Amino acid sequence: MTDKGLQDTFGRQIRDLRISVTDRCNFRCLYCLPETEEASNFYRPRSEDPAPASATKKIRYHWKPRREILTYEEIVRFVRIAAGLGVQKLRLTGGEPLLRPHLPELIHALARIQGIQDLALTSNGFGFQHQAQALYEAGLDRMTFSLDSLNRERFLKMTGRDGLEEVLQSIRLARSMGFAPIKVNAVIIRGLNDHELPDLVAFGRQESVIMRFIEFMPLDAGKAWQREHVVSRQEMLNRLHQDFTLLPLGQQHAAETAQRWQHADGQGEIGIIAPVSSPFCGQCNRIRLTADGQLRTCLFSLKEHDFKLRLREGSSDHDIAQALKEAVLSKEKGHAIGQASFVQPERTMSFIGG
Ligand code: 5AD
Ligand code: SF4
Repeated sequence: MTDKGLQDTFGRQIRDLRISVTDRCNFRCLYCLPETEEASNFYRPRSEDPAPASATKKIRYHWKPRREILTYEEIVRFVRIAAGLGVQKLRLTGGEPLLRPHLPELIHALARIQGIQDLALTSNGFGFQHQAQALYEAGLDRMTFSLDSLNRERFLKMTGRDGLEEVLQSIRLARSMGFAPIKVNAVIIRGLNDHELPDLVAFGRQESVIMRFIEFMPLDAGKAWQREHVVSRQEMLNRLHQDFTLLPLGQQHAAETAQRWQHADGQGEIGIIAPVSSPFCGQCNRIRLTADGQLRTCLFSLKEHDFKLRLREGSSDHDIAQALKEAVLSKEKGHAIGQASFVQPERTMSFIGG
């Protein structure tokens, strides 16, 4: 094998590693971990739906036992090896990463690994305020929050938690502390929150955060995803152009997932992430490590590579590096959402990490 670090068979160089630090979550987003059958079937019209009792019963999720979750020592070792092979960007995700005890300790260690240039965290923002200072001091560079609605009732419907106020406060706190830039993700689903697009854009402008609108992907535990739910990038843009003058911005780098637009007066920008209507697989430079130590070369991989076993069975750093290079060689060309051959992966975003 030639030594090009982590290069796949399509010439893509892996620079970005996303690590899920826990599969648990305190939210129940209906596009990820719906609280009930009813929530996962959000698309059904009410009339045909005299919900049976089973539909409103809470779904029990089976979290991985703690012994199967990678320890901080194991994560740090894995990252050190990956950084030696050219990984430069890290993003910690979950589940909800803030639920993992002592997260600042992990951040402190990761921020000091040679080669790591950017360390970000994706969170639903619940409970952020208690940890914000410690995360900042540990060396966290950037925060991404999730916020699908600015309406308290709809926020509750979409996330299963009455948490709008707290999440808004978290976003404001992060901004005032100097995390920059702050990105705020909203998954847009037809009939649920698509009419809030202009309000969400106005919010981003007002609060000086970058709103990013994400097309709904078939990664929901309820397997309720249908093409009709997806509001395509073009549709989002058409809607937004009624209220705002948005000018396209060039990409910051080729592997960027979002396409960006700037308000004509220079006050703020938005991004749209369109994996369904406009796949960006050709430039993808990401791999993902699940909380239980499985490497996934694509969000939609059907195969995982077991690094927990290697980390625990006494493999040397060199062996792990070789195994990582080999795993990357099997990185898929792209996903097949919308094609007959598409198979939804068993694990949801909460396991895989966003
Ligand atoms: N489709 C699109 N985005 C999703 N996310 C979680 N599940 C889905 C899905 N099925 C988003 C979350 C979070 C990010 C990590 O991924 O809202 O912002
Ligand atoms: Fe929602 Fe993220 Fe939790 Fe999934 S992991 S339920 S998207 S907050």
